[in-house]
Amino acid sequence: MLDWYDAHARVLPWRAAPGLPPPDPYRVWLSEVMLQQTQVAAVIPYFETFTTRWPDFAALAAADDADVMSAWAGLGYYARARNLLAAARVVASAHGGRLPRDEAALRTLPGFGAYTAAAVAAIAFGQRAVVVDGNVERVVARLFALAEPLPGARAKLRYLADSITPDARPGDFAQAMMDLGATICTPRSPKCLLCPLANQCDARRAGTPDAYPVKAKK
Ligand code: ADE
Ligand code: SF4
Repeated sequence: MLDWYDAHARVLPWRAAPGLPPPDPYRVWLSEVMLQQTQVAAVIPYFETFTTRWPDFAALAAADDADVMSAWAGLGYYARARNLLAAARVVASAHGGRLPRDEAALRTLPGFGAYTAAAVAAIAFGQRAVVVDGNVERVVARLFALAEPLPGARAKLRYLADSITPDARPGDFAQAMMDLGATICTPRSPKCLLCPLANQCDARRAGTPDAYPVKAKK
């Protein structure tokens, strides 16, 4: 996966180039919050606006609430913007303007759920954290041809994702899994012929990648 990432990672404004030191934690955090319910292409212009206008935690912490809310307009899920501002203020006032490095401490900040805390710990700080979003769930469910349906399978998927997360470059691994899910292991008609995991994939071996993840009947 890491070799595939070095060759095929999407070039995105919040990423460092593969092999370079990790990017600014502020930018990693901001991008991950924006990416939670919004597609990459839609996020990019907002990310550029925010980082130009408020380049770090101190700047965002000092921003006017109304300015931040109106800059967020169009991204939706406005609770994210309110938590963004609240987190920036806690980071500026209680953490010296820097994010804490470990997942447990990150979890205490406004808006930091399991996903955000793990993504920031892994991508910004190189900590071995298990980063699971919808893309990762799909890739893992296919790799292991997991028969158990969502949402009940979430704990199992997390355990399996943990089992394949390397100690080296966990942030790049997480982003490789997300890129693979977004570009190759897509919800419909995955491009298994281009997939670096094809030889390890149980769903591909069974010939039924589209069948995973199994969803509970409504
Ligand atoms: N989706 C959410 N975070 C992402 C990231 N860092 N890279 C690619 N897709 C993502
Ligand atoms: Fe997804 Fe196909 Fe790769 Fe399996 S081989 S992980 S189904 S793209």
